[in-house]
Amino acid sequence: MRALFGLSLLSVAFAIRPGFPYGSTKVRGVNLGGWLVLEPWITPSIFDNTGDPNIVDEWTFGERQPKEIAKATLTKHWDTFITEADFAAIKAAGLNHVRLPIGYWAFEVGPGEPYISGQLPYLSKAIQWATNQGLKLIIDLHGAPGSQNGYDNSGRRIPYPTWHTNNTNVQRTSNVIKTIANMVKDNTANVPIIEALNEPAGYFGPDVLAVTRQYWYDSFGNVRYPYGSSRQSDTVLMIHDAFQPLSYWNGVLTYPAYEGVAMDTHIYTIFNVTEVQMSQQEHINLVCSKRNSLATFNLWTIVGEWTPAMTDCAKYINGRGRGARYDGTHPDTSTRVGSCNGWSGSASTFSSSYKTFLRKFWEAQVSSYEQGQGWIQWTWKTEAGAAEEWSYKSGLANGWIPSDPANRIYPNVCG
Ligand SMILES: *[C@@H]1O[C@H](CO)[C@@H](O)[C@H](O)[C@H]1NC(C)=O
Ligand SMILES: *[C@@H]1O[C@H](CO)[C@@H](O)[C@H](O)[C@H]1NC(C)=O
Repeated sequence: MRALFGLSLLSVAFAIRPGFPYGSTKVRGVNLGGWLVLEPWITPSIFDNTGDPNIVDEWTFGERQPKEIAKATLTKHWDTFITEADFAAIKAAGLNHVRLPIGYWAFEVGPGEPYISGQLPYLSKAIQWATNQGLKLIIDLHGAPGSQNGYDNSGRRIPYPTWHTNNTNVQRTSNVIKTIANMVKDNTANVPIIEALNEPAGYFGPDVLAVTRQYWYDSFGNVRYPYGSSRQSDTVLMIHDAFQPLSYWNGVLTYPAYEGVAMDTHIYTIFNVTEVQMSQQEHINLVCSKRNSLATFNLWTIVGEWTPAMTDCAKYINGRGRGARYDGTHPDTSTRVGSCNGWSGSASTFSSSYKTFLRKFWEAQVSSYEQGQGWIQWTWKTEAGAAEEWSYKSGLANGWIPSDPANRIYPNVCG
C-alpha cells in the first residue's frame, strides 16, 4: 500500500511546475562543500596557516585574527576553490545537480557576530555557471543564527546548538529564506530547489524537533509565496529529516494539501564506534538496507549527502584538533580499529584493493539511493592531498567513480 502510494505521488498533477522532473528523472549530483562555508577538513591549510589552533570554524576565523587578513584569505578562496571549470567538469561527469551550502551571514550579520560576509556575488556567479552548463542548483542554507547543530559546518562549533532556543534566531532564518526565495522565484529552471536548513540536530530532543517542524511549515509559505499575493512560485522546498527516521515525518507537508516538497536525508556510516568497526561488506549492507524506506517515503526523497569513505580518518573530519574514532584518537573513545594510514589523504597513497572497495561502495550507494529520487555526494572536491576519498573529482581521476554514473561494474551489489 505504501509502495503504491509512493508510485501515485510520482504521477500526480501539480499546479506548480518544478524546474526538474522530480519523481521521474533521478537526481545525480555533488555538493560544493567547503566553498562558501569553510570546513577545516576540506581545506585544512586555510586553518593551519592561521597559526592559531583555536580557529576551528568560520566564527572563530573571523573572531581571532584581524578582519582584513580573514577577509583577504576568504576572498582568495572564494575566487579560486570553485570556478566555472568545476561546473563544466561536473556536467561532463554526467551529473544534473549541484547543491551549494551557504551561511546566513552571507545575507546579514548581527551585532557581536564576527562573521565575514561577501559570499553573495559568488552565489550569483554559481547560478550563472549552473545556467551556462545546464546544471540545476540547489541553494542550501547551511548555517543559521545560534547554530542549528553545533557542527563547525554550521559556522559555529559549540557543544549545544542554540538556534531553536531563541525565536529571534528562527525569525532571522525565515527572513533569509524569504530573501533567497525572492532572488530565485523567476529562475526555477536553473534554481529549482531551496533547502530551508541543513541538519537541524533533532537528536538533542523534542525542543529542537518542535521548532524545526514549525519552521518547515513557515518555510513552505516563504518559498511558495514570494510574490506578496496568492500567486505561487514553482520553487521546490527541501526540508531535512533532522536525523530522524523518515517515518517520523510521515504526513508532514504532503500532497494534496502541499505540493512540491522534497525530503533531504543524509547517510553516513562512519560517525560512531559501531560504524567504524564494521567490515567493508557491512558498510555495503548498511547502505543497501536503506532502499525500501527511500523508495516508499511520501515526499521526493533525495540523499543529499553521503560519501564512499568508510572511516573517519580524514584530518579534522570530527573537528579541528580532534582525532578519529577509527584509530582511537577521538576524544569520545579509545577503542581502536586500526591505523588510519592509507585510508585518507592523497589518493596516490590508496592501495588498489582500497580503490576497488571505494568503487563498490560508491555503486552500492548510488543504486540504493536511486530507489529514492536520487543522490548528491558530499563533496565535489577537497584541497589537493586532503581527504581525497571524499572527493568526487579525485574519484573520477582515480577510477573509483565512473565518468558516466550509469556505468556500473557491480550492478547487483545490493542483491
Ligand atoms: C536571541 O538571539 C538574538 C540574535 O539572533 C540575540 O540578539 C538575543 O540576545 C538572543 N536572546 C536571548 C534571550 O538569548
Ligand atoms: C551507530 O550507527 C549504527 C548504524 O548506523 C546505529 O544502528 C547505531 O544505533 C549507532 N549507535 C549509536 C550509539 O548512535
